[in-house]
Amino acid sequence: MKRIMITGALGQIGSELTTKLREIYGADNVLATDIRPASGSTGPSAVLDVTDAQKMHDLAKDFGADTLMHMAALLSATAEEKPLLAWNLNMGGLVNALETSRELGLQFFTPSSIGAFGPSTPKNNTPQDTLQRPTTMYGVNKVAGELLCDYYFERFGVDTRGVRFPGLISNVTPPGGGTTDYAVDIYYQAIEQNSYTSYIAAGTYMDMMYMPDALQAIIDLMETDADQLIHRNAFNVTAMSFDPEQIAASIRKHLPDFQLDYAVDPVRQGIADSWPDNIDVTAARDEWGFKTAYDLDAMTADMLEKLKNKLQNA
Ligand code: SER
Repeated sequence: MKRIMITGALGQIGSELTTKLREIYGADNVLATDIRPASGSTGPSAVLDVTDAQKMHDLAKDFGADTLMHMAALLSATAEEKPLLAWNLNMGGLVNALETSRELGLQFFTPSSIGAFGPSTPKNNTPQDTLQRPTTMYGVNKVAGELLCDYYFERFGVDTRGVRFPGLISNVTPPGGGTTDYAVDIYYQAIEQNSYTSYIAAGTYMDMMYMPDALQAIIDLMETDADQLIHRNAFNVTAMSFDPEQIAASIRKHLPDFQLDYAVDPVRQGIADSWPDNIDVTAARDEWGFKTAYDLDAMTADMLEKLKNKLQNA
């Protein structure tokens, strides 16, 4: 991994991934592409609609990329609102990225998600290899994507790699259109209003991870020798599992008067109910040494401190 092209570089993961990769591999060695133009980019950037296969290929070739990180996608709640757009963008973008990687011999990364599981999946300690019958368009895209990545490795020898991310929490770029976004919004509202109205019900557990751990996981997986990997794609990764009451309790350690109430959104609640409560990360740990640094309280302390500075200086 020396010359890296990223799609969706202005998105929730892409924006911080770009910064981190530029720190490690050099700003000039990371090409940030997104459907929106980058303002004030700290390195090379280009506008790319991932459904444009030729442009993706040409950008990667001209840049001399050896790695493609495909992050552009619609998240679960938006995909439920616009299922056909989600299919075209999520699957069309992925197949273009895999084709570009095959044609140019690139190492490849794309994230799957806990959304690749469904109501018939075991809810607790969800195994790496298990039933996957998701009931959302996003989940259908993710399962098909996992299989497609495996196929490109088996059939064409493309060095595909990936993880199933849980809800990702960060203080830099807000997520958009996801089911787990409440766990980000709650920190912003805690600082701004000392209260939050959750669209996810009390007692709903979902896996979560702090962004610094997610970025490190991507890099660790990509830097692992290929012969250590049995699974390659869609490794379960997570750092914690909590419900809204538990994240509120963690916030109250810093803001004792913080209030939480509920206005449950049936669509996003339905999606959350179809996902696991907590997933098993043994395969990721054993095959490439997956580890995390932040639990719920460590993440809360860091989020509140960083967001306070950010919102004060805004
Ligand atoms: N965070 C994502 C979502 O909620 C899960 O992959 O859609």
